[in-house]
Amino acid sequence: MADYLLTCVLAYLVGSVPSGLILGKLFWHTDLREHGSHNIGATNAWRTLGKVPGIIVFVADSLKGQAGVLLGLSLVGTPLAAVVGGLLAIIGHSFSIFLRFHGGKGVATSLGVLTMLMGNVTIVVFVLWFTIVYITRYVSLGSVVAGFLTPVLAAFFSYPMEYIVFTVIAAFLVIVRHRENIKRLMNGTENKV
Ligand code: G3P
Repeated sequence: MADYLLTCVLAYLVGSVPSGLILGKLFWHTDLREHGSHNIGATNAWRTLGKVPGIIVFVADSLKGQAGVLLGLSLVGTPLAAVVGGLLAIIGHSFSIFLRFHGGKGVATSLGVLTMLMGNVTIVVFVLWFTIVYITRYVSLGSVVAGFLTPVLAAFFSYPMEYIVFTVIAAFLVIVRHRENIKRLMNGTENKV
């Protein structure tokens, strides 16, 4: 039980580290919260700072998800703990203790968790997300559609129940965090990349 608690606390703290905000300020002297969509994630880093910063922030945010899974595996060592660690990293990213419980939208961090848990789902989701973004230039549309489809794919590939439950919770979080994007998409006022 103590190991689970430690996994939760550490994964949440790792997820809470606002990578985009720190990297933006450190290397590009820019506070992402003051530009574009005001989000601290990779999309807004790409939009505001350029392609390379966007990719760097994407990798940094993904690594937090992978770190959460690794914490669960190393401290407890069960699939459930891996899922819990990953989920807490996503929660930390979206509701960061260092940003008064504000944060990013959880897409890159969720993808980081997915890479560790469900390789085939990751590939399908990424290809789908990329295709939607490439065609429409709306990253948020790709993210929301990917969010809806991830649990379906996890079930389709017959993953264990704890993995499927994880995808449902993560998808719910990602979609809720995109509610302003969804409104803008419906109004036709969403930011493109
Ligand atoms: O990953 C976040 C993306 O789906 C939307 O980002 O900056 O356009 O709100 P943004």
